[in-house]
Amino acid sequence: MKWWQTTTIYQIYPRSFLDTNGDGIGDLPGIIEKLDYIKDLGFETIWISPFYKSPGKDFHYDISDYTQIDPIFGTLADAERLISETHKRNMRIVFDMVLNHTSDEHAWFKESRSSKDNPKRNWYIWKKGKGKDKAPNNWISMVGKPGWNYDVKTDEWYFANFLSFQPDLNYRNPEVKETMFAIMRYWLDKGVDGFRLDIFNSIFKDKEFRDNPFSFHFTPTPSAQDEAFFQRKIHTLNHPDCFGLAKEVHSLLDEYKEDKFLLGEVTGNDSILKKFLGEKLDGLHLVFQFELIHFQFSARFFKNLLIKNEATFPYPYIPTYVYGNHDQMRYIDKIEHNPEKAKLLALFQFTARGVPIVYYGEEIGIKDANIPNAEGKDPIAQQNAFIPNFIVNAFGIYLNRDNCRTPMQWNSTPNAGFCKPNVEPWLAVTEGYSRINVEYELSDKNSLLNTYKALLNLKNNNPTFQSGNLAVLEDYKDYSDLLVYRRYSQAKSFLVFINFGYKDLEIKIETVKQIALTVGKVKLIGNSKLQFAAYSGIVLEM
Ligand code: NOJ
Repeated sequence: MKWWQTTTIYQIYPRSFLDTNGDGIGDLPGIIEKLDYIKDLGFETIWISPFYKSPGKDFHYDISDYTQIDPIFGTLADAERLISETHKRNMRIVFDMVLNHTSDEHAWFKESRSSKDNPKRNWYIWKKGKGKDKAPNNWISMVGKPGWNYDVKTDEWYFANFLSFQPDLNYRNPEVKETMFAIMRYWLDKGVDGFRLDIFNSIFKDKEFRDNPFSFHFTPTPSAQDEAFFQRKIHTLNHPDCFGLAKEVHSLLDEYKEDKFLLGEVTGNDSILKKFLGEKLDGLHLVFQFELIHFQFSARFFKNLLIKNEATFPYPYIPTYVYGNHDQMRYIDKIEHNPEKAKLLALFQFTARGVPIVYYGEEIGIKDANIPNAEGKDPIAQQNAFIPNFIVNAFGIYLNRDNCRTPMQWNSTPNAGFCKPNVEPWLAVTEGYSRINVEYELSDKNSLLNTYKALLNLKNNNPTFQSGNLAVLEDYKDYSDLLVYRRYSQAKSFLVFINFGYKDLEIKIETVKQIALTVGKVKLIGNSKLQFAAYSGIVLEM
């Protein structure tokens, strides 16, 4: 198997990991300092959200120079050191790559907007309106705003599928594609192991600029943004040419003798996800599967997900399991901040067949903050500052992403060790950090952090969990709170039991070879019975 098929991924939001230069913003030397922490936990791969040069209006998802490091994060030498220090530890490093759009302060866009006959004009998507104040068509952006932006100087409109200061590049212009491919080679040559590709499904739009059809759906869900805000976005998301591009980027990576890797941020139903992966698995290597972002804490939900993934994405497909990221409410807030429930979610994530992707702080249970939209630094929060929180909650749209981006909690000192006590962090540390922090949880053998560690250890030391098969067991279907699945290979067989209920349970089982791991209170009685307390789980070698 290739390394990325069996890997475990830890996502770092660099602004919020560790500040070493006293400006209240995390930086690359901070990540280097904490590599041993990630290594000791047992993760193999780190994926880091963007740190290229940027005005930072969308916190570096608006890039103004793809080959420079923004000084708030460090220097190019720091980035190179980060790559080599990661490799020294036998770990992998994945950069974030924003192909779809640049910042409106990128030199290319400045040129492009300067006149209709500028050589860079055709690097972005420009079009004449349908009349005074009338956009070229009905396309709305992924965030539900008009996608076209009027430019007075040249009396034309440019398209931006995310925020208006993030103009979309025009991939129908071969020069653009070549330039962006050269940028990827630049980083791959420096040793980067791959890319997480930002909104990769937005890159190509309809050549004829036809209107998107009407839809009854208003709310975008993380797994289906292609039908939201009353539009079926058939002409602006998941365009068939995006599937072709996936293969081209795959071939670009194949130029390298080491195995490089692509992880796509794409949304749509499973048949669309499979198109991004390619019929011959010659597209993106993995895609995010976002079902766990809106999980229900029940055996039935997780069982259905496993059954569905095993049927739709059997090997050689590799599912991915993700509870959160820098755009989503933290999962612990969906389970009443209950660490016992959190441990079971982790038990599932690391023992299911697939690649687990963990967002920094999930391993200690950092809570979502509660910053109102009006006080948000996130541009999406600012644009929606007038919408009261109860309406936001009613529609389930997460508008203030500051809430999931608060500083990592390293210890119980003021600012949780993220920055010096006398420095003001860019976002305040969330409540509860005196106990919810790395130092404290490392010292508590029953902590959430130590559960993550034990699970990573189980996965890293048992190839069966990395590459074995999975079968959901129906033998216990009378126990509706219990999820049971088998992980097996020629060499070994394990059973994973997860009690999602608050009630105690007792069941009979086959003969056990040994207990591989327990979460919460479970007792094996006489090698043939299991007693579960509320919210507990066990992995048995059979
Ligand atoms: C998706 C990223 O995850 C999000 O954080 C960003 O704002 C947009 N793409 C635009 O790049």
